[in-house]
Amino acid sequence: MTAWIDRRALDLFAIEHPLLLAPMAGSGGSALATAVAHAGGLGAIPCASISLQTIEAEVKTFRTATSGARVNLNFFAHAPITPTGEATQRWLDRLAPYFAEFGVNVADLPKAGGRAPFDSAMCSLIETLRPEVVSFHFGLPVDALLDRVKATGAIVIASATTVAEGRWLQERGCDAVIAQGYEAGGHRGNFLTDDMATQPGTFALVPQMVDALKVPVIAAGGIADGRGMAAALCLGASAVQLGTAFLLSEEATTVTAHRNALRTARDDNTAVTNVLTGRPARGIVNRIMREVGMLSSDALPFPLAGGPLTPLRAATEPDGLGDFQPLWSGQAGALARDASATEIAMQIAERAARMLGI
Ligand SMILES: Cc1cc2nc3c(=O)[nH]c(=O)nc-3n(C[C@H](O)[C@H](O)[C@H](O)COP(=O)(O)O)c2cc1C
Repeated sequence: MTAWIDRRALDLFAIEHPLLLAPMAGSGGSALATAVAHAGGLGAIPCASISLQTIEAEVKTFRTATSGARVNLNFFAHAPITPTGEATQRWLDRLAPYFAEFGVNVADLPKAGGRAPFDSAMCSLIETLRPEVVSFHFGLPVDALLDRVKATGAIVIASATTVAEGRWLQERGCDAVIAQGYEAGGHRGNFLTDDMATQPGTFALVPQMVDALKVPVIAAGGIADGRGMAAALCLGASAVQLGTAFLLSEEATTVTAHRNALRTARDDNTAVTNVLTGRPARGIVNRIMREVGMLSSDALPFPLAGGPLTPLRAATEPDGLGDFQPLWSGQAGALARDASATEIAMQIAERAARMLGI
């Protein structure tokens, strides 16, 4: 048993190591959550892009496989925006050369969906399933829903990309705050600011968040090995949350084109872009990001920008190319390893403990 010095996150989540699996919509499910729980960390099941029935089945599978370890169910809390016809046309016009290249008929384009905000039906499922931890990205749901989640006794955590967002979450009763630095893979959790130019990196954000908040701070973004975990704990984080480190693991559901891209990951080939979904997210630079521009004012609001890309993705993905799909990765993607997630998590925690002399 490792004698971690700060026990706040360990006690809150009933875990052996202060390591949380980042919920990763599309790349992780009950198998990945189980593997990290087996290593003594907290498993997470991303629920934003799966049906209520699938959420229920995933939780059941996790609970059976872990004999009742705590689980974190993750949801998005964005406010959906209905774009004007003009805005829709602008995005379709921007993509027109690609539709022509791949023979896509605009009349057949699917409506974008697949990433629903937390709603009453999801809340009812929480009331039935009673997960020990519920986490939110993009802020928090409206008070009435949040109160219902809290009434189940769930621990509530959420991502903050600035100290102001961390304070906002603490004031609304979050039990811990995830400090998501700019290095992080996937969607930025920002909700009080849209300014990507001023988003702080993990190394600067974590100690300032720790100083500002009373609740435990969980460091996220660019942490992918024991050195990073030890550094985050030295900065005052009570735990770390890792995503990219697990994307190549056996238990991740990362698709082939995404795995291929991750094997080319370097410190300098990811960027934050809104052209894949409509919200800023960090991924490995691909064709659409390069050609349309990383942050485009033409992109439809989240998650609608992704809908018209569906046939372009379908046309290029079978070749192992990820030209028109999210290849989410943090800036430490080159440290991700092909191994079991249990082994990855245990090695990271053990190395961090050794470095900290515990
Ligand atoms: C592939 C991928 C998918 C993600 N999906 C989600 C998600 O569904 N919900 C969420 O709260 N965060 C999501 N994130 C962000 C993570 O919670 C976390 O902030 C990030 O992984 C930390 O940075 P790292 O990837 O460098 O470890 C995702 C990240 C990645 C890499």
